[in-house]
Formats: sequence, C-alpha cells, structure tokens
Amino acid sequence: MSEGAGVRFPTELVAALRAARRVAVLTGAGVSAESGISTFRDAQTGLWARYSPEELATPEAFRRNPGLVWEWYAWRRGLVTAAQPNPGHLALAQLEGLVPQLTLITQNVDGLHRRAGSRNLIELHGDITRVRCSAEGTVYTAWEEGSEAPPRCPACGAHLRPDVVWFGEQLPAEALERAWMAARACELFLSVGTSGLVEPAASLPRVAYAAGARVAVINLEVAPSSEGRYDALQGRSGELLPALVAAAFA
Ligand code: OAD
Repeated sequence: MSEGAGVRFPTELVAALRAARRVAVLTGAGVSAESGISTFRDAQTGLWARYSPEELATPEAFRRNPGLVWEWYAWRRGLVTAAQPNPGHLALAQLEGLVPQLTLITQNVDGLHRRAGSRNLIELHGDITRVRCSAEGTVYTAWEEGSEAPPRCPACGAHLRPDVVWFGEQLPAEALERAWMAARACELFLSVGTSGLVEPAASLPRVAYAAGARVAVINLEVAPSSEGRYDALQGRSGELLPALVAAAFA
C-alpha cells in the first residue's frame, strides 16, 4: 500500500497513476455533493421536494409547462452559482497538469469542474449555466430575464431552454464519441461519485477495462458490481482525490 495525505492506496494504483500517459476520469453528482449540491439519488429539497428530476428534466415536461421547468432550472442555477468547487474538483484540475493527458468526462451539469480549472472536459449532459434556443439550438451563456419565463430566443422568438440533456434525449454525439475514445485509449480510468445507473456513461468504465485499462472507483458506497476487477476506494471524493494525487505526485 502507498500513502498520501494520511490515506493508504493500493501501490499498483499509485504506480499506474504516476506512470500513465493517458488518464480518463468519469465524474457524477457525488463529486459535487461536498460543494453542497444534492445528488440525483438524494431527495429533492425545499419547495421542489414534491417534484423528481424525472418529472421535470424531460422534453414532455417542458412542452407541458415550460415556465415550471424554467423556474426549476433557475432555482438549481442559483444553487450552483452560489456553490464553490471542492477539493475533489480542484484535485482533478491539478492532476490535468501532472499527467501527459487527462480527459475529464462529467455527467454533472453544474459547471464546477470548469470553474475549478479543468480544461480537457467533456460535459456529457450539458451545462446548466448555459441555455439554448429550443428551435434553432443556438447556445447562449447570457440572456435577458424578462417578465416571461422562459425567455425567448433573441433571434427567432422560440423559448430558450437549459443547455442540458433531458431524460429521453440523445447525448451530444461529438462529446459521446470523444468519451468513448478517451475510455478506449487510457491506461487508467477513474470513476468518481457516480451511481453508474445511467447509460451510456455507465458503460465507460467497462469499455476502458475491456481495452486494458486499470479502473478505480471512488464512491461513498462501493458497489460489489466491480467483482474485484476494479480498485474499490470507499470514501469522500473531496478527501480521496487530493490524497491520491499526493500519493502519486507529492
Ligand atoms: P447519483 O445521484 O445517481 O449518484 C451519486 C453517487 O455519488 C452515488 O453513488 C453516491 O454514493 C456517490 N456519492 C455521494 N456523495 C459522495 C462523495 N462525497 N464522494 C464520493 N461519492 C459520493 O448521480 P449520478 O451518478 O451523477 O442524468 O447520476 C447520473 C445521471 O443520472 C445524472 O447525470 C442525471 C441523472 O439522471 C441526467 O439528468 C440525464
């Protein structure tokens, strides 16, 4: 075992990270939990407690009640904007400068990896801090919030919508292709803070493992599904990621 910041890791994992030329990382909501952003499997809080993401994050919900869906995202955008990247986000941004090539694939839409400094970033499910025209697809990072919710596209007048993937929608093809390529090409794949329930992201660790990569899972609850093939690191990503980077590069 190798030690970093008081945490002990399998020596082979630390050596693999130190030696890797290409590292791929998949993150889920668990990486942002320590920034105060509830995960999908947590109960919704406050006035939105009566809704589940599956009810609101869908094209049907937006067609049925665009104002409600827009307000839900405005509420979430407020939470996200007030949140700060935590040591787990910062460790991944630091790691990008320590290995020859790190590709960070995230299911999160909170923009915290980008704010932490990660650059080679694939946002599989989009980014809640951006909106796009529901008719033309034009993406906007700033928009006028008038009296009408959702606001309308300044170019064509259609409703603006969050620039995120909703249940039942296709993931951005270019982002998904880049993610498959990174999983197949890496020597080490880290899966951090994801329940691994939603495809196609959930298949990325398996694709990496099948292509010969070492796979490590960091999660509060490590699922037995790894059947000993993966390094299973149980704990908080905000503690384990900085410790793993320290063990390999301190
Ligand atoms: P989930 O809420 O499904 O899972 C969060 C995972 O993080 C769980 O396995 C927790 O055990 C783990 N976890 C919680 N706190 C943690 C911490 N501090 N450190 C490490 N692990 C922690 O979130 P996702 O797996 O990201 O899709 O969900 C995947 C997708 O399902 C989301 O992107 C979203 C949702 O439906 C869309 O909206 C399309």
